[in-house]
Order: sequence, then C-alpha cells, then structure tokens
Amino acid sequence: MRKIDVFDTTLRDGEQTVGVNLNTVEKLEIAKQLERLGVDIMEAGFPASSKGDFEAVQMIAKTIKHSSVTGLARCYQKDIDIAWEALKYSEEPRIHVFLATSPIHMKYKLRKTPEEVIETAVQAVTYAKRLFPHVQWSAEDACRSDWKFLAKVIEKVIEAGATVINIPDTVGYITPKEYGALFTYLRENVKNIDQVKLSAHCHDDLGLAVTNTLAAIEHGALQIEGTINGIGERAGNAAIEEVAVALTIRKDYYQAQTNLNLQEIKRTSDLVSKLTGMMVPANKAVVGANAFAHESGIHQDGVLKEKLTYEIITPEMVGVSSNRIVLGKHSGRHAFKEKALELGFDLTEEKLNAAFSAFKELADKKKEITDDDLFTILTDYQTKRVDEPKYELMSLQVQYGLNHIPTATLLIQTPNGTLVQEAATGSGSVEAIYNTIERMIPGELSLQDYRIHSVGKGRDALAEVYVKVKYNDKPSSGRGVAQDVLEASAKAYLNAVNRCRNHSELSTSPL
Ligand code: KIV
Ligand code: ZN
Repeated sequence: MRKIDVFDTTLRDGEQTVGVNLNTVEKLEIAKQLERLGVDIMEAGFPASSKGDFEAVQMIAKTIKHSSVTGLARCYQKDIDIAWEALKYSEEPRIHVFLATSPIHMKYKLRKTPEEVIETAVQAVTYAKRLFPHVQWSAEDACRSDWKFLAKVIEKVIEAGATVINIPDTVGYITPKEYGALFTYLRENVKNIDQVKLSAHCHDDLGLAVTNTLAAIEHGALQIEGTINGIGERAGNAAIEEVAVALTIRKDYYQAQTNLNLQEIKRTSDLVSKLTGMMVPANKAVVGANAFAHESGIHQDGVLKEKLTYEIITPEMVGVSSNRIVLGKHSGRHAFKEKALELGFDLTEEKLNAAFSAFKELADKKKEITDDDLFTILTDYQTKRVDEPKYELMSLQVQYGLNHIPTATLLIQTPNGTLVQEAATGSGSVEAIYNTIERMIPGELSLQDYRIHSVGKGRDALAEVYVKVKYNDKPSSGRGVAQDVLEASAKAYLNAVNRCRNHSELSTSPL
C-alpha cells in the first residue's frame, strides 16, 4: 500500500468560497478537528493576505502539534517573510509558494515571459528554503500549461530546494485521463523528480475534482489536496472525505491509503458546514443526510436481508451515529460535561456553564435533546468570543397578523453596555426585525442573503439561520440558533454585525 499524504486546504482555498468568512476562533476550532481527523498537512491561510489571516495562521501554527501547518505565499520575499513570522512556531514549518505557468496567466495576469517566470519561481523557492525545511511549490493553472515548459520549471524549482511539487487544476478543466497522463509525463521527463513528492490539487468546475485526484494517485501522486465537503472557490475543490473513503473502499484497486481517521469524517463535515454556513446537500457522497438512506422497497428489503446488497460504506465507518436522544431536562452538569467531551468539545469552565444554561433552557421547551442539538449548542458556545464587546439581543417582541402590518420591538445591549429599545415595521416579521436592528445600529447595514435550516426533525427542532450582510460596505456573515425562527433570525443579524466590527479578522484574498 502506498501512503498518500493528505493536504487539507479548507482554511485557505475553502475559505475563498464566496460569502465564507471565518474568524480566528472558528478557524482554530476547525484546525483542531482537522488534526483529530489526522490530516498530514493543513493549509491554515494566506498570511500576507490580511492581518486576520496572519493571526489565524500563527495561532494555528502554535497550537497544532500532530499535523504540519502551512501557509500560502506568492513568489514575493515579503509574502515569504510574513509566512515565516506566522509559521516559525509550528512543529515542522512548511511554506506553499505558487506561481502561474499557463500561457494565459503568464501573459495577461503576470505579464511575464516564460523565462521570467522560471527566474521568479527559482528565486522565491531559494529564498523560502533558507527559512523553511519544507517548501511546496505550485504551478498555478498547471493543467493549461505547456507540458514541456512545466517540466522545465519544475526541474529548476527542485534544484532550488522544493520538496513537494503541486500540479493544480486551478480552473477545473482537465479530464481524468489527461491528468493521469500529465503525472506520468512529469515523472518520466523531469530528471530530478524522485527528490520530491508530487501533489494533486483539483477544482470541481466540471464535477471531476475527486475523479481527477484519484487518477493522479493512480499515476504516482503521493499527496492529495482538497477541502472538507469540497468547499472552495467557484464549484469548489476535491472533497477530501470522498477521496479517503474511495481509497479505503477500493483499496483492492488503488493499493493506496491515507492516515485519516475515517470515524472523524462526520464530525469534521458537520463542524465545517456549521461554521462556514455551507450546507451539505442531502445527496452528497459520504456525508450527505441521505448517503445511507434506502427509500425503494427493493433496496430496503435487500438491506434488511444483507446490508452489503446496497451499502458499500457503513455509516459507522465515517462516524455517522443515529442522532440519539441523549439528555433530558433532568440531566445534570456532570452528564452534560461528559456528553460534551464525547462529542469532542473541551470547553473552558466559563463556556461550559453558559452552554449548560442554554441546554437547560432548551430542555424545558424541547421534548428530546439529540446529539445534533447538543452539537449545535456546543459549537455555538465553543466559538463565542467571550472577551469581545458586542451587540446582544436582550428581548424581542413581534406582532404579526393576517392583514396587519408586522411590527417588531427589540431591546439590545450595545458594545459599551447601554440598553437601546426600538421598533419598526416590515412586510414580514423577519423584515420588521431587520428594519428595527438597522435603526438601532449606527452605520449602513443591509441584508444580502438569508437561509434557514432546522437541526434534526420535529416541530420543536432548533432553527439555525445564516445571513450575509453588508455593513459599512464590508461583507460579513452571521449565524444564529434558537428554537424560535424569529429569535434565530435576530441573533444571526446581530452576529454578522459583531463579526464585522472585528473586521481585521475578515480575510480578503488577493488571489
Ligand atoms: O487552485 C490553485 O491553483 C491554487 C493554488 C494557489 C495552489 O489554489
Ligand atoms: Zn485551488
């Protein structure tokens, strides 16, 4: 079995998903989960792109011990120096430097000749190698590059000290046969290729990212890159969980394996989905809600007789539990803490107490508290910034009646601790709430997108609201959870404002 390194870029390429803005606390939470999942390398961000990205990469590099942490850099000394400042604390400092090699990128974007591109790449790798023991170099848009030229640059950057060479299909253009052939070509035509690992990095514009990644493995890639749930720029990246499960289920064919702990897949997927607001489609492979559901009578009959008739992956393999009813209103703090630990949350005393109060409040109103409910509450409290002054919802009243104008009255606490009350109308209850909030908060605030989703089933299920807003011309996103949809909506809007106030954290990628 060949060992395939997993390079996760959820926090960098994944975070480039339109509308996704994670703050440092959320990134750290995802990084800790990626470590539990067992990724070999995690790309924590692009340190030179913003102060927020720098701080997050540095914090992750200081915290994560069992995965190698890396950061992206352009072929500029300044980018590499900043990356070093962020990554020097990590156990195994590693940098990811990239430069485009396709004719279209060289001519229009870089305005460089092929010779200048080689020179720039070699200079950057040489410089990076003075600081970092591990230097990955990526040929951006490799799959639309001239193969001979690609082989030439790669040979030169290997001479300069690169330890991993990544072949990105930046625009999701290539087909599996071609991608496999490109890996074979490079292995046969770059004379020093044996000194490095070859890495696959695929985008999903034609829906081929996972297939292309597997084709690269068949043709000698020893590292694969991707994101959890396949999130990322445009149509996204290869979904890491799909590649890892395919290698496991078809080890007879691929003869290759990763070090991932597959049982952590579901939790990782849930956490990434919750914190990014990128819902997982029900029919998504491996982690979708219907991935293990059998609807037709013939299938159900088959599965009842023998699971293997229609089930090639078991839910247990990827950590899907049956969303058990776990605690009730008589459960005490000790049982709650134990359950939190079992669900992977090691909260500070302060956060545990706050989460326990929220659980008790919910348990008074909701008949059955499930794993999913607890996961939602605990994620919320784990990623709450306790130290940060913020707008907080104190009370909410909405009047709604058919043929009446909806009116909302809100009381909020402002970041400096004062209480403000206001009311407004709207064409619906949510609009009335949002009009009220817009009156209360100084500055220009407007809603760009609104999504609601229920946690689990049942009429008393928790509501999770995600919003995208513009606040003083800056994009932000927010999340709110409550049993009542209007309360969740109000909380999400305020959360988006609070996140934006700490705007140095919101990364704007220069890519
Ligand atoms: O898709 C891409 O080309 C990238 C590079 C920065 C590696 O993400
Ligand atoms: Zn990419």
